[in-house]
Amino acid sequence: MSRRIQLFCCRVEKKPRDTVLILVLCFARIHPPEFFKNKYAVDEAHYVTELSSVLASKKPAVLLTLRGVNTDSGNVSKEASFEGISQFNVNNTILHPEIAECRVIKTDMELEVLRYTNKISSEAHKEVMKAVKVGMKEYELESLFQHYCYTRGGMRHTSYTCICGSGENSSVLHYGHAGAPNDKTIEDGDLCLFDMGGEYYCYGSDITCTFPANGKFTAEQRAIYEAVLKASRAVMEAVKPGVAWPDMHRLADRVHLEELTRIGILKGNVDDMVKVHLGAIFMPHGLGHLLGIDVHDVGGYPEGVQRAEEPGLRSLRTARRLQPGMVLTVEPGIYFIQHLLQQALHDPAQACFIDSHVLQRFRGVGGVRIEDDIVVTATGMELLTCVPRTVEEIEAFMAEGQSSAKSFDCLSSQKK
Ligand code: GLY
Ligand code: MN
Ligand code: MN
Repeated sequence: MSRRIQLFCCRVEKKPRDTVLILVLCFARIHPPEFFKNKYAVDEAHYVTELSSVLASKKPAVLLTLRGVNTDSGNVSKEASFEGISQFNVNNTILHPEIAECRVIKTDMELEVLRYTNKISSEAHKEVMKAVKVGMKEYELESLFQHYCYTRGGMRHTSYTCICGSGENSSVLHYGHAGAPNDKTIEDGDLCLFDMGGEYYCYGSDITCTFPANGKFTAEQRAIYEAVLKASRAVMEAVKPGVAWPDMHRLADRVHLEELTRIGILKGNVDDMVKVHLGAIFMPHGLGHLLGIDVHDVGGYPEGVQRAEEPGLRSLRTARRLQPGMVLTVEPGIYFIQHLLQQALHDPAQACFIDSHVLQRFRGVGGVRIEDDIVVTATGMELLTCVPRTVEEIEAFMAEGQSSAKSFDCLSSQKK
């Protein structure tokens, strides 16, 4: 039989005076309140049946309940209630921004869990890269990823539905949903864009690896992959406290436009391309987002931080300046999305920069995303993700990995 235990604690930083946090827990075994007080390091623990009377005995000036809009989903969190709450003075507006702010800056213990989710998920991605074969269904790799995370890491859940796009599916940003459940057969020449992250004790990870199904990039796939990798590296070099996240998005966009010009898909002046938002045709999503208990974590737009209106930038799930302890994804991508390309080709302001003959050769690439998770440190960032990233690393890993269990040494995970 389960029993519900009420915990009260007072450990929220910047809390209004006399704040009491209430956690409701269910456990199979009946433990005394003292057990939970110790397990969760809280100040008090009581049975839920005593909730109203215990609170009344404390004579609180106000009870704070959690209600507020998630700026990412637009959903409103529903505040808790209990029998007898009407006898208290209840405020449902103070707590939400405070809790969101607590979640934005991670504690050392939270970082420890996030390092773990990244370590296991990185290994699971490598396991997938070793196992992939032309002729498999995309879902076989999804299943392998989940199996590895669970059996080797005790990670029962993923942080989101796995995105295992191959071929043209790699250009579908949230492929893998119920209507398109990773069920295509992987073909020779396909690029695989696999975006998967395991979750542990509610903390997530969010990693994308893009690689050729047959282990060898074509010239076109390689050119686009290296353009995205260059954007990723430029952002990681620039990340440090004080930097505004939209500026990192602009930086990635600019690198993409420069590289697409060098490749020959685009022609003309990059500053002029920026003015007509050409970057958003190729990367129609934000550069990255806060990560934590939610994969798209809360706190992206606190009061005073405005969402931009321009294409691309308006998709950013945060526009904050970086602070030490923030955990974010860095996920630049270049995609050849047919309807966006058609839209650009029909807009004279954008079409004048596109060489449609060269573009034609690249349409079949689908999409490339490279997604890593980082922590902002006092001087720069720490990379949490550890997977093969350069073309050479990927091709060598897949070649050797498919015949033996080669280990991959991550050179890039040092802290700056
Ligand atoms: N996996 C979802 C995202 O990258 O945001
Ligand atoms: Mn992702
Ligand atoms: Mn992401």
